[in-house]
Amino acid sequence: MTPDGTGHHDHGHHHAAHPGHDHPGHHGHDHDEDLAALLDLDAEILKDYLVTLTGWVAENAPEDTGTIIDVGAGTGTGSLALARRFPTSTVHAVDQSPAMLERIAATASAHDLDSRIRPVHANLDEAWPELPAADLVWAASSLHEFADPDRTLREIRDALAPGGLLAVVEMDALPRYLPEDLGIGRPGLENRCHEVIAALGWNHHPDWAGPLRDAGYDVVAQRQFDTAQDPAPEGTGDYAAAYLSRIRTSLKDHLDAEDLATLDRLLDPRDEAGLRHRSDLKLVGTRTAWLARKA
Ligand SMILES: C[S@@+](CC[C@H](N)C(=O)[O-])C[C@H]1O[C@@H](n2cnc3c(N)ncnc32)[C@H](O)[C@@H]1O
Repeated sequence: MTPDGTGHHDHGHHHAAHPGHDHPGHHGHDHDEDLAALLDLDAEILKDYLVTLTGWVAENAPEDTGTIIDVGAGTGTGSLALARRFPTSTVHAVDQSPAMLERIAATASAHDLDSRIRPVHANLDEAWPELPAADLVWAASSLHEFADPDRTLREIRDALAPGGLLAVVEMDALPRYLPEDLGIGRPGLENRCHEVIAALGWNHHPDWAGPLRDAGYDVVAQRQFDTAQDPAPEGTGDYAAAYLSRIRTSLKDHLDAEDLATLDRLLDPRDEAGLRHRSDLKLVGTRTAWLARKA
């Protein structure tokens, strides 16, 4: 990944801000299962935002968008939303993780979309897969994960049909769930967690407008979406727990003992002060989307 667009490659420390992002030194099937559960909660809780976002993409996409490629598709949140938004399209959902691809196939089948959502196994750091020219390429919370995003951007450009559109989406900052004073531990826990994660450089990504232009695109639009919900919807406790338990691995060597104990109480499903039982959680965040065409 080259989060700052310089080509500097620093594996394993940039993934925290998307709720689904990777942990340093934590790989394999369980890891994918945790990530998948988190991505599914993300999709469920932010479904209205996805409808707005894909509606905006559709205003800018070619009229008869038929071929869509979802780059780093995860559990298929984007693939499903796009298949619904573009009712005659076929979505090629590309991911390197077999566990994610299984989830995508199951979701497609559950929605009777097997014929229109096609899981594609590929590691995009190695080679671009054999796919038809795309009217729309979608890269949500994935571009900054690639070893060389500038190269991937050029490969995507070559994969676009004339007039085709690329939509890149990223989270702007770490998601926030916790009140300042939890009534347990020292106030300000979430800020201290975020300081640790920020110092590790997680989820850093540039304003993609520059790298997009450098890779031969015209940036046709950029928009920030507020994903906050007030009051926080049902499921926010599970969502926060899934997120915080994923980042705990990186926090544990940096938080003091009191903060770590508070975090563990929050994560304990049986603790009355835990995330699953609280009514004071919030849901705060923004995401930015860039739309670009071949220059
Ligand atoms: C944070 S998830 C985002 C998933 C989905 N786009 C979403 O918005 O919910 C990033 C996904 O990119 C995939 N990914 C990361 N590096 C990849 C690579 N080199 N080739 C293919 N997929 C990759 C991961 O397996 C993961 O499923």
